[in-house]
Amino acid sequence: MIPTVTRNLLTDNPALYEARFPDPDHAAGRFVDDIARTLLSDDRSRLSVLDLGCGTGRDLGFLAGQGYRCHGLDMSEQMVRYAAAEHAPVTASVDDLRDFDLQKSFDVITCLDSSLLYCHTDTELASALGCARNHLRSDGLLIAEMRNGAFFLGNTELLDVPTLTSFDWEGRVWSAETTLWIDHASQLLRRRRAWTLPDSSEPLVQTSAWRLLFPLELAGHLERAGFSVWAMFDTPGPRTDPGWIPVSNLEGLRDSPLSGDRLHVVARAV
Ligand SMILES: C[S@@+](CC[C@H](N)C(=O)[O-])C[C@H]1O[C@@H](n2cnc3c(N)ncnc32)[C@H](O)[C@@H]1O
Repeated sequence: MIPTVTRNLLTDNPALYEARFPDPDHAAGRFVDDIARTLLSDDRSRLSVLDLGCGTGRDLGFLAGQGYRCHGLDMSEQMVRYAAAEHAPVTASVDDLRDFDLQKSFDVITCLDSSLLYCHTDTELASALGCARNHLRSDGLLIAEMRNGAFFLGNTELLDVPTLTSFDWEGRVWSAETTLWIDHASQLLRRRRAWTLPDSSEPLVQTSAWRLLFPLELAGHLERAGFSVWAMFDTPGPRTDPGWIPVSNLEGLRDSPLSGDRLHVVARAV
């Protein structure tokens, strides 16, 4: 596997990550909980969840509080340490979502906040989805949420122009200038972020990239890996505006134009 994660100030500092991207209503956890309860079982204590790219573990922390048995994996040692320390009884391990073997099977696998898009090549994506399938029981669910590559067909508002963000954390101001652009040849959305840090006059410049996947392309990868796609939809979702709301008729989620910024996928292990 080619290393794709360069240094990242936010994944190196989990508390800073949570300050930058607060999720006070546990939107991501509620999204997973509602779908799992509707499609699998109302008895959460019967269900186990594996989160790929678990980050700070806060989504699993919420789910564990509801009764699920939870494990997270992440490539960042800092994130894994934080997740296990802050969200016990959640367990966490340093693993690469593109190739892992935990010798365990789960009822639900989640991959949120575009973590799947750290698979930059088709080979990495096939490997990640194959590993996910191997860790799911038959009829188990893969619940994923990510940027939608199809959004960029005709929408350029997020591209090429630097955006400035600034937030307070522990009484100090953290600012960043972020630019996104498309690398067409590699089918990647690339990001350059220049941080202005409270303690330094030098900017800290870091880069990252996400695979741009179209919905049909992802559906094909899922089917080849042994999944049947139950639904793909634009809204509602934990990172959409308005955000996730409990949906009384989940079947209605199947009817979506798939042109939004965020793509939500629910697939069953065949
Ligand atoms: C956007 S964050 C996820 C945030 C998480 N849902 C949360 O709310 O804390 C993406 C995470 O994926 C992890 N990651 C990136 N590439 C990975 C890989 N190949 N394998 C495992 N984790 C990876 C990063 O370390 C980071 O913690």
